[in-house]
Amino acid sequence: MNAPATLPGPDEALESRLLAIEAAARFHNVELDRDELRYPAGGPPPPAALVTWIRDSGLWARAVRMRFAQLLKVEAAAPVVLLLRDGSAAILATADPARNIVWLKDPRAPSSDMPVAVDELRLSQVWSGEVLLIRAIREITDENAPFSFLWVWGVVRKETRLLRDMFIGSFALALLTLVPPLIVMTTLDRVLTYRSTSTLALVGIFFIVALLYETILNYARRKLTYIVGARVDAKISLHIFKRMLRLPLDFFERQQAGEITYRLQQVNKIREFLTGRLMTTMLDCVALLVLIPVIFILQPTLAWVTIVLAGLVALIIMAFLGPVNRAVGRWIAAETQKSSVLVETLHGMRTVKALALEPQQRDLWDRRTASSVKLKLEASELANWPQTLVNPIEGFMSRGIVLLGALIAVTAPGSIDPGMLIGFMMISGRVAQPLIGLARLMDDMQEVRVAVGFVQSVINQPPESANPSAGLRPRIEGELQFNAVNYSYPGTKTRALDGVTFSVPAGTMLGLVGKSGSGKSTIARLLQGITRDYEGFLKLDGNDLRELNLAYLRRSLGVVLQENFLFRGTIRENIIAGRPGLTLTDAVRAARLAAAEEFIERMPNGYETWIEEGSPNLSGGQRQRLAIARALIHDPRLMILDEATSALDPESEAMVNANLTRIAKGRTMVIVSHRLTSLTECDQILVLEKGKVLDIAPHSVLLDRCTVYRQLWLQQNRHLEPSSRHGMPGPVLAQGDD
Ligand SMILES: Nc1ncnc2c1ncn2[C@@H]1O[C@H](COP(=O)(O)OP(=O)(O)O)[C@@H](O)[C@H]1O
Ligand SMILES: [Mg+2]
Repeated sequence: MNAPATLPGPDEALESRLLAIEAAARFHNVELDRDELRYPAGGPPPPAALVTWIRDSGLWARAVRMRFAQLLKVEAAAPVVLLLRDGSAAILATADPARNIVWLKDPRAPSSDMPVAVDELRLSQVWSGEVLLIRAIREITDENAPFSFLWVWGVVRKETRLLRDMFIGSFALALLTLVPPLIVMTTLDRVLTYRSTSTLALVGIFFIVALLYETILNYARRKLTYIVGARVDAKISLHIFKRMLRLPLDFFERQQAGEITYRLQQVNKIREFLTGRLMTTMLDCVALLVLIPVIFILQPTLAWVTIVLAGLVALIIMAFLGPVNRAVGRWIAAETQKSSVLVETLHGMRTVKALALEPQQRDLWDRRTASSVKLKLEASELANWPQTLVNPIEGFMSRGIVLLGALIAVTAPGSIDPGMLIGFMMISGRVAQPLIGLARLMDDMQEVRVAVGFVQSVINQPPESANPSAGLRPRIEGELQFNAVNYSYPGTKTRALDGVTFSVPAGTMLGLVGKSGSGKSTIARLLQGITRDYEGFLKLDGNDLRELNLAYLRRSLGVVLQENFLFRGTIRENIIAGRPGLTLTDAVRAARLAAAEEFIERMPNGYETWIEEGSPNLSGGQRQRLAIARALIHDPRLMILDEATSALDPESEAMVNANLTRIAKGRTMVIVSHRLTSLTECDQILVLEKGKVLDIAPHSVLLDRCTVYRQLWLQQNRHLEPSSRHGMPGPVLAQGDD
């Protein structure tokens, strides 16, 4: 190892550590992105943060402590990263157990350098004993596995240790449930018959001890159940949220938010079922292993009666399953429709109020509520039947069985003691419960199947990219090329883009104009990789856009739309938007560039002013300038403004436009605007019509040769034309011009 003469500074040490990890990841064909590395400020990234960073890129990673002897045995099929004490790192190339040395590489050294041999003594001076193991994941990862009931069950099953403890606890509890009946039997038969106080005392002590045990065991079992529940819950909801974020944007555009929310919330049902009813019924069934033999030993005839009656109950419940479920299904569908009215009304409240649509919305809600209530009543009515039928049978099982026992005792004297009869009754009650529970379980299963279907319909949609870590992450300069790009939105026949070909040199400004619906936003969407199933080629710096890593591409762009969502938080937080390593200074610089500084400083708390949901305390122009600052903060090479200034008042628009050339310095700009005056500075302007490129040239050239552009320009800037005579009524002028 090239041990440096002087200690490396903290930055240099970190650099070496990151280089080592990146080299190890590259060995598995994964390019890590330093922007994704998150760690608390004020110190170097802890190993846990490094591990998360690597894992999020789709590799397997673990930080472990090792002794030198273990290091010698590491099968270095892939590079292993040694974390050194000074914060830097070394790469383990190979180990040589025969000679008791390891071969290390300095990550900062050129790759042509040979590894250096290091023995235990020398290594112990610099190495803390920590290593990062990094491997490729071969099998299907949890992340990509399709969502299904079995998948969820798999998550539950992974809690092996807890499940085993629960099983043991249930078994012990079942044994303990035998205690009270046995005590009753003994008390009745021995204590009362022979009047033995010493037996009573013994029975009493036994009883108390058993009670204590039962209490503790029950406590432990419940605790285990909710621990498993909470862990499974956390895992499932993390998974679902991650998967949802990976879905393509057009999925969300096609589906109503209320519908998606409802469907995803169904996962609660699945989890509740698995960790609640299913778990308790299963555990109760464990008790059957103990209880059924005992009742057969006590009284076989009564035991058979109990089993048959429990079976009858199960049959009744199952017979009603189908119809009840269908009725419940109809009710759920009505309930979904009802909730979508609520969500829609909440989202569109401004419009509802502005257009005084309250009565209509109330009517709609009334109607949906009425049909939901009606279906709910129908379903409940149907579900009431099996309950009603089962009631007398259950009653007989718990109490009537005494009569049967008495009958047996009378017809065959001596075959059954009173104590035994009472004991039997107590135990048989516990046998019937889980058997009936099993039948109910089938019922729940149906419901859960519906819930699984709902969740699947969202989560199992194809994600934006199959492997989020795949793809190139080249340095972006901003040269754009469209080559015969065709695109139609899913489910439409007309092409939104039709043979679009143009190119934009790096660092220049492109304006996009055309009538509404001509495909301007579609071009912006393709650039962001929102839709990747277009025909033709789209190249960024000569790289096919489809080959780029999607997250990397999006992070490298600055995008401002007509409507921009500001998150709840301070102005500073909104501008930084969670990007790591950025500070208030960066936020101020971006705000200045976006012409936002002036109004932020006038806000009561400046950059710390709180923005509520929907940012009611900001005007449209202010919101827009914040969005521009947010897009600018990481200094993107390529910026896309899609009608970013269209909704602004003239003053704010003028302010943004005045800054546009400053913003554009050093980057490629794609600016969609229907106000041509804001595009005159552009190096080229692309005129689109019905998805086709009509012309592309600078403003002055277009004015000369492109009729559509000239007409648009004249429409908007009639007052600038020397030929326009002021004072003439507008319509007459328009006719005269045509
Ligand atoms: N999500 C979508 N689904 C289906 N068709 C769409 C969608 N978005 C846009 N379109 C259609 O694609 C065409 C181009 O739309 P767009 O690029 O948004 O136009 P512009 O931004 O120029 O107004 C239009 O005909 C529009 O109806
Ligand atoms: Mg548009």
